[in-house]
Amino acid sequence: MQTKVTKAIFPVAGLGTRFLPATKSIPKEIMTLVDRPLIQYAIDEAREAGITEFIFVTSRGKGALEDYFDHAPQLEAELLKKGKTELLELLKNTNMESGTIAYIRQHKALGLGHAVWCARRLIGNEPFAVILPDDVISAEKSCLKQMVDAYQDVGGSMVAAMEVPQDKTCCYGILNIGQQDDNLLAVNGMVEKPAPGYEPSNFAVIGRYILTPNIFMHIENQKFGSGGEIQLTDAIANEVTLGNAVNGLRFEGQRFDCGTKAGFLQATISFALARHDLRDELTAYLNELVSVAKAAQ
Ligand code: G1P
Repeated sequence: MQTKVTKAIFPVAGLGTRFLPATKSIPKEIMTLVDRPLIQYAIDEAREAGITEFIFVTSRGKGALEDYFDHAPQLEAELLKKGKTELLELLKNTNMESGTIAYIRQHKALGLGHAVWCARRLIGNEPFAVILPDDVISAEKSCLKQMVDAYQDVGGSMVAAMEVPQDKTCCYGILNIGQQDDNLLAVNGMVEKPAPGYEPSNFAVIGRYILTPNIFMHIENQKFGSGGEIQLTDAIANEVTLGNAVNGLRFEGQRFDCGTKAGFLQATISFALARHDLRDELTAYLNELVSVAKAAQ
């Protein structure tokens, strides 16, 4: 029986420059897929996986994120007065109980490994999850829940894994794979954004991790890696070097890279098409666009 994973770190300190000018005044994580901010998808996934403590590693200009998870007394009173109970219920999901959410600043943009390290005192000596909100995963059973369930059986550290085309391996942490047991991959090594031709496989790490507090020790002793940053991938690779178990889980579900505009738009369309209240109108519109485009060819 493994120690239960109840804490999750959400690294949200990035500037979101790919989405400028929108991200000039709003954090990227507040941008909406249909009508829910990106961060809400990550929180819902964490809750489904049994997470009860949420740690955000933020930076300057992320105040809107804190407000989003707070109560909105004026708005709530107004909705109550008007009898809009459905909307009040919807807002409940955005509220966090006092003491279950913490914000910590990453004062310098030194990379993902460093961002995770910033939360070390709040994690203490127990296993924890890391969720990168840019990676939105649509799945029947949430990706982190799949991982937590697998972790209960095998322990160690775990990363979400997905096959990517060969020419995209240079955009990810890439796994060196040993034994494969169903959807569990034994990890023999990891490389962050390998140069073309140097990828050990085409299994990429997607932004979900279950880690042990060992990782903080590795990060502390670590040199700057790919892109001149302190990489989480390098710290996990050190776990492997020490002989500690690291597994990749080939999760079930569809992953959207909401760190890119194309990925964000694809996620928006996909989530909208899954909604009963939007599906018909949007499908009709998309069909119309396709026929106009075909006619113009
Ligand atoms: C980060 C990680 C990388 C991982 C990727 C998944 O990279 O460093 O190992 O494969 O997330 O989205 P980033 O996309 O922040 O450059």
